[in-house]
Amino acid sequence: MKKILIFADPGVDDAFAIMYALLHPELEVVGIVCDYGNVSHSAACRNTNFLLKLADREDIPIINGSSTPLSGTDPQLFPEIHGYKGIGGLDLTHVQPPLPYPFYKIYELIEQYAPELTIVNLSRLTSLARVFIETGSWIQQKVKDILIMGGAFLVPGNWTPLAEANVCGDSQAAWVVASKGKNMTFVPLNVSNRAIISNKMIDHLSTYTQTPFTPILKPIMDFYSNKYKEIIPGIQGAPLHDVTLLSYLTDKASFLLVQKQVFVVTDGLANGMTFADFRPDPEMVPTYPVNQIMLDFSMEQFQNDFMKVFSRDRP
Ligand code: BDR
Ligand code: CA
Repeated sequence: MKKILIFADPGVDDAFAIMYALLHPELEVVGIVCDYGNVSHSAACRNTNFLLKLADREDIPIINGSSTPLSGTDPQLFPEIHGYKGIGGLDLTHVQPPLPYPFYKIYELIEQYAPELTIVNLSRLTSLARVFIETGSWIQQKVKDILIMGGAFLVPGNWTPLAEANVCGDSQAAWVVASKGKNMTFVPLNVSNRAIISNKMIDHLSTYTQTPFTPILKPIMDFYSNKYKEIIPGIQGAPLHDVTLLSYLTDKASFLLVQKQVFVVTDGLANGMTFADFRPDPEMVPTYPVNQIMLDFSMEQFQNDFMKVFSRDRP
């Protein structure tokens, strides 16, 4: 079993990633750190609690992540894409908020599951940056690896023309992580924009499967994909960015990665932009970490894997 600690802001694609992880027979979720981003921090905690209750997995600790960027400024949220009252079109206003564990539970979990633990960061990078700032290289010595949904390399952003949302939402935090972390894999929009699940696939799962999540797949996805149709006319479905990381974790052969130093712009018009040196003979910045960037994958394989996992009844 691969042990994972998820940092998330559910959010539609985060919710699908959490459901995927709970359904996958090779993944063991040891905790979920709830952050802000797609929705507020409190909504992210409530939405996570709802998913864990549905799966009868309230044994998994929910941890209080960050509610603002490192700068302390109010975050920009995206309820028009991820839901005003819950996840997508689900009304979760009646759901009890959980009593999350304090931030230091992250350190206990890392210590408990070292050296096998993989960190899967699906939200703004604030909480992960706090771990780096508070512990220095400690995290690096303890965890197996770190996967990050974030960045856009030589392709357009989705928040600004240049910047992807998880990086742009707290570019200073992203800079901390990119400049300090080792053994990290960035999963950027280059791939995640193509991790599209169609409404037909969701209809199929809604009709023919019987997992604890079956009844909520359609109301969540319909809301999200309707919004995506406004953003990208003609799109059949919508990209489930955050699911890509978990699919990669369980089927590495279908993904293409390159080794690069990853840089983050932290101010000005290009704030939140990520870049790397893609020239044939790149210049290396001394003492700056080299990490991995995912650049391609098999979309067909991803979709097949998604359908297989969501057809299982694991919890
Ligand atoms: C990332 O930003 C959030 O909106 C999504 O949940 C995903 O983690 C995509 O840019
Ligand atoms: Ca996310």
